[in-house]
Amino acid sequence: MNRTVERGKTLLVDGPASVTVISGKTEVFGYSLSSAKKVVIREGKRLPFVVEETTTFEISLGESAGLEEVDGSTIPSSWVEAYEELLNLQTKPSTVVVLGAVDSGKSSFCTYLINMLLQEKRKCVILDGDLGQSDVGPPCTVAYAVVTKPITDLFSLEAKNAFFVGVTSPSRARNKVIEGLSLLKKEVLNENPDFVVVNTDGWVDGEDAINYKMQLVSELNPDLVFCIQQTDETNQLLNAFQKFRKMVVDSPIAIKQRDREKRRNLRELGYIKYLKNMKMQSLPLSWLKIEGNELFVSDKTLRNTRKAEEIYEILGMKPLNIAEFENKILILIGRRRWIDAEKLTKAEEFTRKKIVIARKGDEEGLLTALYDANRKFLGIGVLQELDYARKTLKILTPVKEEISTVVIGKVKLDKNMKEIPFLEEENQSEFPMFRKLF
Ligand SMILES: Nc1ncnc2c1ncn2[C@@H]1O[C@H](COP(=O)(O)OP(=O)(O)O)[C@@H](O)[C@H]1O
Ligand SMILES: [Mg+2]
Repeated sequence: MNRTVERGKTLLVDGPASVTVISGKTEVFGYSLSSAKKVVIREGKRLPFVVEETTTFEISLGESAGLEEVDGSTIPSSWVEAYEELLNLQTKPSTVVVLGAVDSGKSSFCTYLINMLLQEKRKCVILDGDLGQSDVGPPCTVAYAVVTKPITDLFSLEAKNAFFVGVTSPSRARNKVIEGLSLLKKEVLNENPDFVVVNTDGWVDGEDAINYKMQLVSELNPDLVFCIQQTDETNQLLNAFQKFRKMVVDSPIAIKQRDREKRRNLRELGYIKYLKNMKMQSLPLSWLKIEGNELFVSDKTLRNTRKAEEIYEILGMKPLNIAEFENKILILIGRRRWIDAEKLTKAEEFTRKKIVIARKGDEEGLLTALYDANRKFLGIGVLQELDYARKTLKILTPVKEEISTVVIGKVKLDKNMKEIPFLEEENQSEFPMFRKLF
């Protein structure tokens, strides 16, 4: 379908859709599109085509896509001012951090700033700290990319390096996110950029979130902090950053909020992007260092200790693995094994710790990150089997390089890359009845 839009208007396109400029002059987040340029809009995303000279578009809309024409530009004037402020920074490199709630426009604002800076021939790096709605690396990672060409969607960039956190929510891994971002920032500085734009996750409400963001910002030590303000809620956040130069920018009114389901769907596109052409690999455990998900990591193993023997005695069985942590004991049992609830309670009384049980096979589908011997991130994979008896690990991954470390995450995927609940969460508050299943 063709559509002509007059100058001074904005065409809002909700994906899945693709838009090609046939003639005219139009901009997406500061990127001036040339004719014949095809722009793909993912499902769950909306792109504003700001028309500067009457433009004819060729548009194909997927199912549930949408199209709307509005007057004026949907880019807030405070975004233009923010860019000017940024350009005036005298430091090299200049680091800016973008804060804001979920769906406030953080990714779009970063895209806008970068496109504008590229027009001035500045070297830009995007450091993406939003692990739940990551644009650059796979979901559950923080990552960076050097941006050399203007873009309509940061998702089209290929990550140069990434740090696997292993969960989608920062509240479950605050230190890991901060550790990852500061490691990557150091590496980014070797690229000798003019600007480092840091995007962050949308967890901004409440004391915990503010403390976490304070810690994150202090660690990154930016030259300027942008806060995207939707309502008054970011005031608290702003007050927390006394020490840093900051600027409030508006959240565009044209934003379409996404629900959890839509956000999960967007993540699936991220898994698919980084798992394309995956193949089964079988790796000997003796070659690998395994980290991450404590349920399947055996460096805290209690096996062959007196205490373990006593626990086995109480349980009346010998598990495949047993590991002790500060506040819990993890036990891995066979696929069809069963532990009596009463015996479990006795074992908990004996150990004075909560006992979490996993069954062989529970590891299937866990999202996993792969690193080489120099700790370079190689990519992600989906764990298929961790076989202690045969001492092998099977994984589906597109990674071809030699793998030396495997970090097991806490997100589980089914065959269609859909997120499914993982045992450890189930063992916690949501499903208190769960244990009775064993
Ligand atoms: N100025 C704007 N005009 C129209 N749509 C916008 C604008 N800014 C952002 N959007 C759209 O709103 C949605 C949310 O923005 P996004 O940048 O993804 O937010 P966040 O990164 O904070 O979650 C996206 O689909 C995005 O394309
Ligand atoms: Mg985003």
